[in-house]
Amino acid sequence: MTKITYKKILLKKNVEAITCLTAYSYSIGKILDNVVDLILIGDSVGTTTYGMNNTRGVNIEMMKNHGRAVVKSTKNSMTIIDMPYKTYRNKKEALINSLDIIKYTGADFIKIETDESNIEIVKHLSNKKINVVSHIGVTPQKFSDFSKIKSVGKNNSDIKALVDLAKKLEDAGSKLIVLECVSTAASKEITRGLSIPTIGIGSSKYCDGQVLVIDDIINFNSTKKKPKFVKKYLNIEKHILKAIKNFVKDVKEEKFPSSKNSYK
Ligand code: KIV
Repeated sequence: MTKITYKKILLKKNVEAITCLTAYSYSIGKILDNVVDLILIGDSVGTTTYGMNNTRGVNIEMMKNHGRAVVKSTKNSMTIIDMPYKTYRNKKEALINSLDIIKYTGADFIKIETDESNIEIVKHLSNKKINVVSHIGVTPQKFSDFSKIKSVGKNNSDIKALVDLAKKLEDAGSKLIVLECVSTAASKEITRGLSIPTIGIGSSKYCDGQVLVIDDIINFNSTKKKPKFVKKYLNIEKHILKAIKNFVKDVKEEKFPSSKNSYK
């Protein structure tokens, strides 16, 4: 199997849906590799893996370490890595930090949360040959309290603003655009108006591809309320708990370790 290329991802627009899931570890990266087109080492690692309330506490070291582990396990899918909060506030900072992250991890793309204020940063990084994924709509780094997040693009002027922003980001050199919690009407119009692919999360079936957080689809952290756009495909905690209980029972009953699991 050969590694998927950006050219092949571009060819999927209007032909076949592009798939993407997050990964934060070597083992999950290995499972996802060659099954999804794109693997995102998201700064959602903060909430999923470190128990943070938002993504603002994620730093460059965390992204580098998780990124390197995932990329190491990935031979065929392409990888995207998030630039954490306050690491791309101006052109110089964005360039130094994105080169640092890419060099250390070997990820194919960096993703930054974008609005009208940082289009020039996308342009600067793209001019320096960095593959940039822009993230628009709901941009989680703006929120310290995720319960305040609401979908966007509900009226004509908001739709127009999003369509214009997406076009400017394409012109600035973005390779892909992630749309988060963008209304059906807006995501349809944005996707139709661009020649680069859109990847939606909570943004309708009209995007060119879909991304979700792996922990959400397997229902890790099951007591935490999940957004409406999440579909749960598995109850992983049930299986983990069963294995743990069996281990505890075996140890208590002195069935483990047996001679099979012991050295002579
Ligand atoms: O960090 C992340 O997982 C993301 C997705 C929500 C797209 O950016």
